Amino acid sequence: MKGKPFYPFAVTAMLGILVMIVLSFIGNFQQADIAQEGENGEEEAAEEEFDDPIELGEHLYEQNCLACHGGDLGGGSGPALDGGYSEEEIITAIDEGPGSMPAGLVSGEEAEAVAEYIISETE
Ligand code: HEC
Repeated sequence: MKGKPFYPFAVTAMLGILVMIVLSFIGNFQQADIAQEGENGEEEAAEEEFDDPIELGEHLYEQNCLACHGGDLGGGSGPALDGGYSEEEIITAIDEGPGSMPAGLVSGEEAEAVAEYIISETE
């Protein structure tokens, strides 16, 4: 009977470790879910918040373009955008990503909103 009293402890310990592993996996998944919900929530908020396409465009500009094209369209690593670009030129640039500019940062209505914002600032 030597060693037998250890058996339940060993089982309990192993179960405990198993439970910890399972719980931490569940925790990871839940965290990912929460993070995703947060992102979706923000997107919905963005759509609700900006009825005015120019305000939406400004918001999208700040998120996607400002790092390279500067505050107030003044330029940075990308050229200044206050030089009278047409809506078509802006949307083409967004779609094609000239030079080192990444293509397709925004698309569709969002690209139009950014273009409208840029034009509204340069008129
Ligand atoms: C990673 C930096 C970067 C980001 C982000 C960026 N751009 Fe650019 N952009 C550039 C660079 C660099 C050029 C110049 C490319 C060239 O002609 O070589 C450029 C050029 C342009 C041009 C001029 C195209 C032409 O025909 O002369 C427009 C318009 C433009 N970007 C709009 C945007 C808009 C709108 C956004 C946001 C959706 C944006 N860019 C995001 C770097 C960036």
